[in-house]
Order: sequence, then C-alpha cells, then structure tokens
Amino acid sequence: MISFRRAGFVLAFLGASTAAAAAGHTVAYDRYSLVIDGKPTYLWSGSFHYWRLPSPDLWLDVLQKMKAAGFNGVEVYFDWGYHSPKRGVYDFSGIRDVDRLLDMARDVGIYVIACPGPYINAETDAGGFPGWLVTTAGKPRSDSPEYTAAYREWMTQINRIIARHQVTDGRGTVLLYQVENELYDESDDTRRYMQALEDKARADGITVPLTGNHNGNFVSGLGATDIPGQDSYPLDFDCSHPERWNAIYDFSAERRELTQAPLFFPEYQGGAFDVWGGPGYEACRKLTGPAFERVFYESMMAAGSTMLNFYMTYGGINWGWLSSPGVYTSYDYGAAITASRQLTGKYDQQKLIGYMIHAVPPLARTDAVGASVPDNRRLRATARINPDDGTRFYFLRHAEPQDTSNDATHLKIALGGASETTVPQQPGTAIHVDGRDAKILLANFRFGKQNLAYSTSELMTQLSEGAKDLALFYGRHGEDGETVLRYPAQPSVRVLEGTVATHWDAATHSLRLNYRHDGLARVVIEQGEASLLLLIGDNDAAIRFWQLDTAKGPVLVRGPYLVRDAMQVGDTVALTGDTEQAGELEVFAASDTRGVTWNGVPVDAVATPSASLLAHVAGPAPVTLPRLDRWRVHMGAPEIAPTFDDSRWQATDRASSPNPHWDHRLPILDSDAYGFHHGNVWYRGHFRATGKETGVRLAANIGVHLGNHGIFTAWLNGHFLGNNPSGAQEFAIDPAWLKKGEDNVLSVLVDNHGHLQEERNGAFRERRGLLSATFAGAPTDIRWKIQGNSGGEDLPDPVRGPFNAGGLFGERMGWQLPGFDDGRWKAATLPQVTDAPGVDWYRTTFRLDLPEGQDVPIALRIHDAAPHHYRAVVFVNGWQIGRYISDVGPQTDFELPSGLLNRQGDNTIAIAAWSTAQDGGLGEVSLVRQGNYRTPLRQRTVEAPDYDALMRSRKAASRP
Ligand code: GAL
Repeated sequence: MISFRRAGFVLAFLGASTAAAAAGHTVAYDRYSLVIDGKPTYLWSGSFHYWRLPSPDLWLDVLQKMKAAGFNGVEVYFDWGYHSPKRGVYDFSGIRDVDRLLDMARDVGIYVIACPGPYINAETDAGGFPGWLVTTAGKPRSDSPEYTAAYREWMTQINRIIARHQVTDGRGTVLLYQVENELYDESDDTRRYMQALEDKARADGITVPLTGNHNGNFVSGLGATDIPGQDSYPLDFDCSHPERWNAIYDFSAERRELTQAPLFFPEYQGGAFDVWGGPGYEACRKLTGPAFERVFYESMMAAGSTMLNFYMTYGGINWGWLSSPGVYTSYDYGAAITASRQLTGKYDQQKLIGYMIHAVPPLARTDAVGASVPDNRRLRATARINPDDGTRFYFLRHAEPQDTSNDATHLKIALGGASETTVPQQPGTAIHVDGRDAKILLANFRFGKQNLAYSTSELMTQLSEGAKDLALFYGRHGEDGETVLRYPAQPSVRVLEGTVATHWDAATHSLRLNYRHDGLARVVIEQGEASLLLLIGDNDAAIRFWQLDTAKGPVLVRGPYLVRDAMQVGDTVALTGDTEQAGELEVFAASDTRGVTWNGVPVDAVATPSASLLAHVAGPAPVTLPRLDRWRVHMGAPEIAPTFDDSRWQATDRASSPNPHWDHRLPILDSDAYGFHHGNVWYRGHFRATGKETGVRLAANIGVHLGNHGIFTAWLNGHFLGNNPSGAQEFAIDPAWLKKGEDNVLSVLVDNHGHLQEERNGAFRERRGLLSATFAGAPTDIRWKIQGNSGGEDLPDPVRGPFNAGGLFGERMGWQLPGFDDGRWKAATLPQVTDAPGVDWYRTTFRLDLPEGQDVPIALRIHDAAPHHYRAVVFVNGWQIGRYISDVGPQTDFELPSGLLNRQGDNTIAIAAWSTAQDGGLGEVSLVRQGNYRTPLRQRTVEAPDYDALMRSRKAASRP
C-alpha cells in the first residue's frame, strides 16, 4: 500500500484495503478498478473541452447530457493559451471560469479527470501553449529552466483551482489528475520534467491519484504516474473511407500483466478530427458509429478494462483561431453529441452500455475465464467472471471485427455445477450477431430479489424498491431472445404487453421466457412478496428510457428526448428534460409516488398495469428563422493602397530572437516576435525603387504541414502581384508599377493557420507570417512595418480573448462588433462575385424571437454554387465563430452557440471576405435551424463589450 502525506492528509491510493482521508472520500485502486470509498467503481467517461464551447450555460447542458447517458466521468483539458494572452496574465473569468465548470460537474454528479497539461495537444494552437511562449527560449516539455519558469506560472494558477474541487476533500468531483499528455520519451530530462510536474501538483494541493496517457512510459521510476494509461485510436483519423475498419488490438495481455492499477484508456477513440478539405464530420461519425462503439468498446471491456474515457464525447468548435494548423472551425469530432449539442445514435449506443455498467456492479472486478467456442466459428466469445459473486460476462462478436455477415450461434455457458448449458434452449432459435455487431450477455447475476441464470438479450438496467424489482433487457429488432430466471418454486407470470412464451422447469427451478424483440414487451413475475417487472425492448424502445437517481432511489423514465434531472418531493417525482415533439412520458418510481411534474409543471398522470405513471408532454413551438437578405458592404483592405498611413504600425526592428527557428538574418519578420500570435497579419514594406526590380520573391510561413491551407496575397503600389498557398514565390514586377527613386510599397496579407503542435523539437515555435523578401534585378532594401491584432498581447477585448480577432483592418476598427455604425456602407445582396483581390466586409443584423424555454441550435451557412477563390472570417455579435475557405472546404455550416446570441433581440453578423484571386466574393449566407427542443435549460447571453465600450477602452489605453 502506498500512502501520500500532504499537509496533514494521509491518503491511500493502492490496495483493496483503503485508508481514510482526513476529509472527503477515499480514492484508491487495485488491479481491477478504481475503488472509491471502498467500492469498486467502473469509470465510463467522455472528453469535453469547455474552451470549445464559449457559453458557460451550455457546459451544464453537455454535462447533464453526458450524465443522462450513464457517463460517470468527464475528461477535461485545460488550455493554457486560452487563459494567458501574455506572460504573467491569467484570466479565469466569464467563459474562462473553470471554477464554475467544476462546480457544475459537482452539481451534476460527474467525476472529472483534470488534464491541465501544461501541454495538451488536442488539435489546438501550439497544443495549448500560449502565444507568448513561442518567443521564449528553452526546450519545450523538458526541465529547461526557461520552460520550467514559464509553465510553473500556469500550473500554480490552474492547480490552485483544480485543488479546490477534489473528491478527496469532499468539495468537488475531481477524481484524477493527468500529468502532461502523451509524452513518449523517457530520457532523463523528461523524467525530471514529469517528476517536477508531479511534485508541483502535490505541493499545490493535488491529492487525487496522478494519471498518465503515456502509452507504456512513466510506469515506474522517476516521473512515474500512479495510474498509467494507454491512448488508443484504432481507426485513425481518415474519415474519407467510413466503412474501413482496422483490426482490434485487444490489450488482454497488458491487462494480465497489470498488478497494481487497472487497465486504463485515458483516450479511447470516440470519433475523429477532420482536416481542411476533408470529408466532413458526418463521415467521421459514420466511421466511429454505433457499430464501432459496440465492437471496439466492448472488446476493451472484454479485455478487462474498467477505466475508459472517450475522446471526444462532445467536441465543440474551434472558434476564433483556436485550431492548430490542419483542422478547421468545427471540432464536432463525429462524437456522440454533435457540436450543436444534439444527441446521435452514438450517444444512444453509449447509453446502452453505460447503463449496463451502472446496473451490474460486479463488472468492475473481473478475471478472464475460458469461454467455450461458439458453434458458429465466424464468431468469438470472451468470458469474464467476478471472483466474489460468480457473475459471468460473455462478450460476443465476429472473430474478424470487419466481418459484415449476419450470423447466428449457440453458446455453451456455465451456470454453476460442472456441466455447461447450450443456449438458447428453445429449439429453432439462436443468438444472432449481425455483421459488425457485438453483445455482452450476462449469466449468474443476482440483483434485488432476482437470480438471473442468463439472458441472450442484453441488460440495460435494473432497479429495486424493497421486494419489487424492475429489469430492462433489449435486443436488435426482430431477433429472438431467451431469458432464464431461477426461483425456488414456480412463480406466477403475467404478460402485460407483447408476445412472450414461458416455460417452467421444476428440475432446475428455472423460468424460461422466449420472445422476439419487437417494440416493448412487459411481463410481471411474482413469487410470494417478491415481484419483477421485466421490460424487454428492441433497441429503439430501449433508448427511450432514462434512469436518474433521487434521494429516494432510482427513477426510470420512458419517452422524452432527454431527461436531465429527477427529484422526489413528497409523493411527487419532479422531472426536468427536453422534448423534440409531443409524446408519452412514463415514469417508474417509488410505489408511493402519486404525481409527476415535468419542468416544474404538474402533468396528468394515470397509473398503468406496469405500476408506472403515464402522462403526455408537449413538444416545442415551431420556430422559423429570419432571412438574411439586407447586407451592407465595405472595402476592408486600405493597406493595399500606397497612400495608406502605417506610421503608427510596429517597425520590424527586433535585432535578435531567442527563437531557435530564427535563421540569424535581419530583419526579423515573423509575427510572433512582435506579439501578434493569432489571425491574419499585414505587412507593408517600403523601398526606394531603382527601376531595375524585375520581381520580388516573398517567403512566408503559413504552416503548410498537414494539408494546411494558409495563404498570402501581395500587392505592389496597389497592383495585385498574386497569392501563394505554399510558402514562397517570386512575383514578376511590371516596370510600369514602379516609382523610380520614390517610396514604393509592398503590401502583404498573411493568413497564419496557427502554431504546430509539439513533440519535443520546438515545432510550435516555427515562425509565422512573412519571413523574407528579396528583389530580382536589383538588391533593393526594404523597411517593413507589421500590424496584427489590435494591442498584440495586450488584449483590448479580454472577454472574447486572445484567439478571437486577427489583424484585418475591420477587426482593428471594430467592424465585427455589435453597435458599429455601418450606415454609410453600401447596400448589398448575396451572393457577390468580385474580380478585385482584397478584403470586403459584409454586415447585417437579424432579429431573433426564440420562444422562452426552447433550445434551438442555429448555424450560419455559407453556400457557394461553385467554389471561388476567397476565404471568410465570420463574426456573430463580435465573436469569431467560423473560418470558411470556399475553394477548400469542407465546412459550410457554423454553429452559433446560443450564449453568443441574443435570443430575443438583435444580432449582428460581420463577415470579412478575403478574395485571394480575381475570382472572389462571398456566397449566399443563411441561418439554419439544426433542431428545436422544449427545454428547461437556461441559455443566458454571454456579456461582452460592444463597439462603443471597446472603442472607449481602447482610446483610454491609446493603442493603434
Ligand atoms: C491524442 C492526443 C489528443 C488529440 C488526439 C487526436 O493523441 O492526446 O490531444 O490530439 O490525439 O484527436
């Protein structure tokens, strides 16, 4: 047993014998599972990034939806760069209020795996490193003094917050703390670095177990974590062939070798990110769909894993310039919950498994046990047994997971005693396993007063109140099912609904039920005082059930789109939840329940023969969205004109740079060196022409890796030179454009797609922006001025934060903001085409009048009948919610998180359309309703400064 002693705490993290914490709960673990307050606990968790959902009220929505699906954990990355625009400056307010997030997790009752980095990867800019770190020295993710001093700032800030919310203190639900992220290098300096992070966490009051996702590294020795884990993405990230599956690596050998800690997957594939030009997230959702979840997740369960976290369960959006090069605005991830917070078939499937995990506690402690081979050799069975109570689990799937044939089999299962029973016993029936399906069958499982011999249906849940039990089994529509329960004497059986045949075998004391899964069958089995309501559904029927805990015990609800919460108030069950249409609400609750309220309003409920209460609830009122047909447009790139005044811009006058990517040439042009870390950047280069210049070679680093789609466009004295999407190009100069002996101006606009993620080679410091410019024909000197986002690291708008705005003229002038007066702009309609490369800004306002108590996910759609050469940055109410590239794609619909909208009032859209060639413009723009739900969810507008407020504060700070 290992004990940790911190500030008077004694905590035991190991062994079946747990030690008591001074306060709060004990978190221990053994080779089987986590053991929380002495109870073996299966962790079924999903990843969620609050920073990809800039609307705190919606965090609650996601957490409640996860909890409702049976997840008992959420894994959260904390993004350093999101909180720190400048060295020494940290912001944990508003959309960055992680205290609030962790309080919500506590209120919802979901454990948190806290992953504060400092490096997180996550397809986010620089893998979570702040922009200012780019310009520091020191090897990243090492024990270099410079890097150490930098990350300790962050760790001090974030550890302090996480420490306030730990299970071990009884003040929150933070259960585990992940150290770093996927560090695969065990060199001495990385070990010291890991150890320093661990020491820092402990010194900062972190008392929960430390975990890692370092795939076999830091398992022992310096820097080892308490619970090491394995990340696994078996289908990779290419969604363009959504039918293509890879083999399953089943990890059972690894499980056998673990002696101290459970088999833990800190990231098991929950979807996939998509790339610029990729097939789009519906393809990712298909690739990693319910079939994948069943076959692959259940294989990890069959290997004995009791700690599974899925990356991602809700992906969200890379609003602003949050994404790393390669990925676009949506981070939907093809996850169980869409970026628009809607539930998918993947959610339903995870709910089926998640509920079972909750309903069958013996699953948290199992050993592998031999299973007889199915008589159909295309299929494979794996068995596990709980050593304490003998509950058995049969995991059934095709031997080749890709196999698409529909198969049937019999299975010999051990029911105690020496011999095995071949099931199903009913002649003419079989266990069906369709192509790419999988099942978990139970045997020898006791619950309530019941003794389940076995079932060829899967158990979704079971609950008890005194001598009354309820069990919900399910199977694929139309498939046979057989369930056998044991009783000391023949029980009475009443089939309330459906067709269920029963057979009593006095010799084995077994009641056998045979049926076909079709809708919902209901059977009551009574013996003496004890009764069982057996519900047998097909999958579609099963997923309409929701189970919630109340102080008086669990409640089961059938019908609505979502049930968020349940409370027993006297003899009434108070439920909250969402509907997408009017329909039934059936409640199975404590037997003295007389009434039901739904979202605070009593509903007419009648008692049913199933001892439930049945009511009807309303759906949402219809909603139509306004058309966006009145636009205003204004030219937005005055920097192109030679007469533009750049006297207040920053000169590129740095004489040296700590950045190892610096080639020791002057001038230093890269934008990070001047504090412009995110978004578009303008350069203006002044030179006295000799008249002999025949061309200019411009090199920029826009991150061309990973199918990235940065670009730059250049003008000479207002004449378009061209664009370059790959990094360097010589542009020919028409002699007529030059003003010999006078000031000439090169204007270059660079779209920087963000900083690379980091291995340990300093890639995140790769320079961004313009790198060099050389004339052909004459060695003419150029003096450069640079302008990125207003204020650089000194944010004029800390509410929207460091990633929101770049350096376009309109962004600097606040044209994206509500309240800006565009009255002098020209009226326009969309679509527009233009042959003038440059930037045009389009603005419109629209009024929403969304009914109170409805959740209406809305997206902004840009539609081009054919691709044009332009890219757009889209702002709604001043928030940058989308980057669109017409000639790259694939994203056309941009989620508008409801907290960014004024749901009953005016909203402003501003779009900067940058035509990168003579065939630009802006497509049609419309609002799309993605769904409509009646909901109790609060969706308050996130307070953020409008034009007047920002310009006032900027004037006060007198920045350019
Ligand atoms: C993992 C990494 C995550 C994320 C994921 C792919 O290797 O830990 O942060 O990048 O890959 O989405």
